[in-house]
Amino acid sequence: MSAETGRPRMLVTFGTRPEAIKMAPVVDALRMDGRFDVRVVVTAQHREMLDQVLEIFGIVPDLDLDLMQHGQNLDELSARIVTRFGAALDTEKPDRVLVHGDTLTTMMATLACYFRRIPVGHVEAGLRSGNIYAPWPEEGNRRVTGVLADLHFAPTESAADALRAENVPEDAIHVTGNTVVDALLATRNRLAKKPGLAPIINALRDQYADRKIIAVTAHRRENFGEGMRQISAAMRHLAQRGDVAIIYPLHPNPNVKKIMRSELSQIANIALIDPLDYPEFVAMMEASEIIITDSGGIQEEAPSLGKPVLVLRETTERPEGISLGTAKLVGTDSARIVSEASRLLDCPSAYKAMSLTHNPYGDGTASQKIAEVLAQQSGLQVKDAQAVS
Ligand code: UD1
Ligand code: UDP
Repeated sequence: MSAETGRPRMLVTFGTRPEAIKMAPVVDALRMDGRFDVRVVVTAQHREMLDQVLEIFGIVPDLDLDLMQHGQNLDELSARIVTRFGAALDTEKPDRVLVHGDTLTTMMATLACYFRRIPVGHVEAGLRSGNIYAPWPEEGNRRVTGVLADLHFAPTESAADALRAENVPEDAIHVTGNTVVDALLATRNRLAKKPGLAPIINALRDQYADRKIIAVTAHRRENFGEGMRQISAAMRHLAQRGDVAIIYPLHPNPNVKKIMRSELSQIANIALIDPLDYPEFVAMMEASEIIITDSGGIQEEAPSLGKPVLVLRETTERPEGISLGTAKLVGTDSARIVSEASRLLDCPSAYKAMSLTHNPYGDGTASQKIAEVLAQQSGLQVKDAQAVS
């Protein structure tokens, strides 16, 4: 309990771009709720990409650990997080910590809490591919987090089932939807009112007005090397069609940026650009015909916008889009990527079948549900009974 406010102290932590986008609505919901003392501590595992999100969502962290180093490796980054976040816990003294997803920030912050017996709520809990090397190291990170957390906010029923299969107690699991849908819908509304929030994409859309836009991202560690080479070969091939433009915001990880720059710079109809801030990226998804990506979050966003997703992976922990038919696993073989993309571009019935506007990952109310569960857990009076699942 915070001595100053007399309210339970909830410490929200995150460090990478996707965690920040997905935790921003949670921070907002907890602050709007008024029953909590909310603290935000960022590891800054990502520096520039985190700052882009903090600025867009108007979040000023209470503490910024500033931990990113260029070309960081998993061992050193893990050690920095557990040490520095652990020290932050000793001064912040939270009643509970909220972590998100499956990054090193997630797992190492959880470990630091465990060492101090501070309870952890895991947002986006229960995603499983069943293969600890795909995605790597994310599947390991989220499993460890799942073992140590005592509250699990599962985005979907199938994520909740995965937790049940690991013997997580039923009363510790809450199905809330994914908070990324909260962030996406709010940002889409902002963009509708203020299209000037996306000047880069507005300019590219004008430049490529006579072409179909393909939005591309790739950053998974298991795709480094040969996978990235195959993806770049597929992009070169698709760009030669003449009726498409590929917009590709490059992830700053040197294992991605270096190879993509050397393979794809100066190729007609490919725009290699810096990471986009979130409104720009949402505008890019809206402007695109199809999305080709190995990202987790983008698989969850695209169905709200009715955009088919070709997933550059062999497996996914997000089976809902595959079952619904809005996403398809295509791996990283360049010929396969080109043939699947061409099918969508050339065959209207194939396109129609994959472009349903229905999102199985959430309805925009996940953060509010999480706030209500946390209030109940803290013994606070129920404010909105309907929000609790
Ligand atoms: C991390 C997460 C991954 C998540 C991804 C989202 C781990 C192990 N990996 O992978 O789960 O899907 O973020 O994007 O937690 N860099 C910058 N500026 C930035 C961000 C990164 O320059 O704003 C560069 C730095 O050189 C950094 C490198 O990218 O060392 C790698 O960053 P890191 O967080 O270790 O790995 P990601 O590949 O980004
Ligand atoms: N995103 C963004 N700008 C970009 C690329 C992605 O804002 O240039 C957003 C995207 O909308 C999604 C999140 O970042 O919400 C996904 O991040 P990433 O693919 O890096 O990580 P993953 O979801 O795979 O962990």
